[in-house]
Amino acid sequence: MPELHVSNHPLVKHKLTLLRDVHTNHRTFRELVRELALLLCYEATQDIQTSPKTVTTPMGLAEGVKAEELIGLVPIMRAGMGLLDGIMELLPDVQVWHIGLYRDEHTLRPVQYYNRLPGEPTVQLCLVLDPMLATGGSAVATVDIIKKWGVNRIKFLGLLAAPEGVGRLHEAHPDVPIHVAELDEHLNDIGFIVPGLGDAGDRMFGT
Ligand code: PRP
Repeated sequence: MPELHVSNHPLVKHKLTLLRDVHTNHRTFRELVRELALLLCYEATQDIQTSPKTVTTPMGLAEGVKAEELIGLVPIMRAGMGLLDGIMELLPDVQVWHIGLYRDEHTLRPVQYYNRLPGEPTVQLCLVLDPMLATGGSAVATVDIIKKWGVNRIKFLGLLAAPEGVGRLHEAHPDVPIHVAELDEHLNDIGFIVPGLGDAGDRMFGT
C-alpha cells in the first residue's frame, strides 16, 4: 500500500507558511528549509532499526538503544542540498550521495548530470531529498538509480508535493513512502506547484 505522510505538526505548518511568503528573504528561506528538514526527518525515521544498548549513568545502569541502520542521504541537486544541513544535525553519521538532475524547462523531463555512486551499495536505507515533488519525474529517476545501485529501502522526503507527483512516484515505486510538509493543490501549465513557494532552488541560492 503506497504511503503518503503529510505532517500535521503545528511547527511544520508555521514554518512552511513563512517559507511560502514571497517576502521571505534568501537567508531566512534557507534557515527555514534547514529547520523543516530536521522536523520532517524526525517524523520519517521513526521506524529505523535499533539494537539494545546498556549505558552507565551516574546512578546506575540504564537500558537504551543504539540506532543501527546505515543511512544514506541522496539530495537531488540543486535544491535538495538545502535539506542536508538540518538532517545531518539529527543524523551526524550518515553518508551523502549526491545525484545531479535538472528538469528540462520544455519537456519537464529530468536530465542527469551527476552520479558518483560506487559499484556496491554502502547503506541500508536511502532518504531521497528534494523540496519539491512536482511532476515526480526527478524523484522517480532518482529512485530508479538507487534501486539499480542495490538499495531497496528508500523514502522520499520533501517540503511540498503536487498530487500529480505523488501519483507518479506511487505508481512507479509503490514501496517508497513519501514524507512532506504539505500536499498542495495542483501543477500549473509550466509544471510549478500551486500555491507552492516558487522555485525552491532559486529562492535558496538567490538565482
Ligand atoms: C526542481 C525541484 C525538483 C524538480 C521537481 O528542480 O528542485 O528537483 O524540479 O520537479 P519534478 O517533480 O517535476 O521532476 P530544478 O530542475 O528546477 O533544478 P534545481 O534544483 O537545480 O533548481
